[in-house]
Amino acid sequence: MSTKEPKHVISTAQFFDRPILKQLFESADRMRSGNHGGELAGRMLASLFYEPSTRTRFSFEAAVQRLGGSVISTEAAAHFSSVTKGESLEDTIKVTAGYSDVIVLRHPEVGSAERAAAVSTVPVINAGDGLGQHPTQALLDIYTIQHELGAVDGLSIALVGDLLNGRTIHSLLFILGLYKVAKIYLVAPNQLKLPKEYKAYLDKSGIEYEEKDSLEFLDDSIDVVYVTRVQKERFKSDAEYQKLKDYFVVDSNTVKRLKDKSIIMHPLPRVNEISTDVDDDPRAAYFRQAENGLYVRMALLAHILSA
Ligand code: NCD
Repeated sequence: MSTKEPKHVISTAQFFDRPILKQLFESADRMRSGNHGGELAGRMLASLFYEPSTRTRFSFEAAVQRLGGSVISTEAAAHFSSVTKGESLEDTIKVTAGYSDVIVLRHPEVGSAERAAAVSTVPVINAGDGLGQHPTQALLDIYTIQHELGAVDGLSIALVGDLLNGRTIHSLLFILGLYKVAKIYLVAPNQLKLPKEYKAYLDKSGIEYEEKDSLEFLDDSIDVVYVTRVQKERFKSDAEYQKLKDYFVVDSNTVKRLKDKSIIMHPLPRVNEISTDVDDDPRAAYFRQAENGLYVRMALLAHILSA
């Protein structure tokens, strides 16, 4: 194991700045073009997921293997790891760090990735800590916006859905603070509004924003519509979830009001919040966005594990 301080990725606020993003995105472009080979030969990634995942886990595991490295993995760590025997997160991490070169952790508790990093001798990448942060999603989101629309500066961006519980939104906001966006619309029902600390961050960054509770305002002034799922697993009562789950549905009629050069994004999984009749519209960027996760995670792993 390396004796250098490991490069943990816990929150977008802590890890990224514009020069690093530029470097990572150039590297992601290279990964996309297939211009890579063996950068992570002999390196091993441990993926430790205490919550469900398709894209994040697969794309991390594919990323390390495409660069010549290998994976040890426990999906459903809450059921299939020693946690079921009462082992603490800290002990699991200390042991896993001894077997691997980087740990990708998804866990239901806010702050879990930070706790893991505090005891890990290898880099810990936060793949989602409850309703906290999901920094690599924000990275691929920003990469997608830049790739699709050419730049992030100057754009008007509507963030739609569960702004209270959606960690992808929380991470994306921190990273948007590094850009000169024209305006952010925070679109959520009253019960699912953005937490105060993130609004305070927007205030501090001087970003203009406005809260909305309907999609009616969407028109040809908007560049990006970023839709999120109502986070069922964070609700105390199913009745409350049922009331809110279909609060917003973006459909072909909504999309008609947007300009040609705009995109609709979603971190996925989608439930009902974007109707499938939008999928064939060239502006529907969510599947391309998911694919970008692979290139961006290849770039990030190569960066973190470089000698
Ligand atoms: C998101 C997550 O897990 O936070 N999914 C993802 O990583 N692409 C969003 C979600 O689950 O709604």
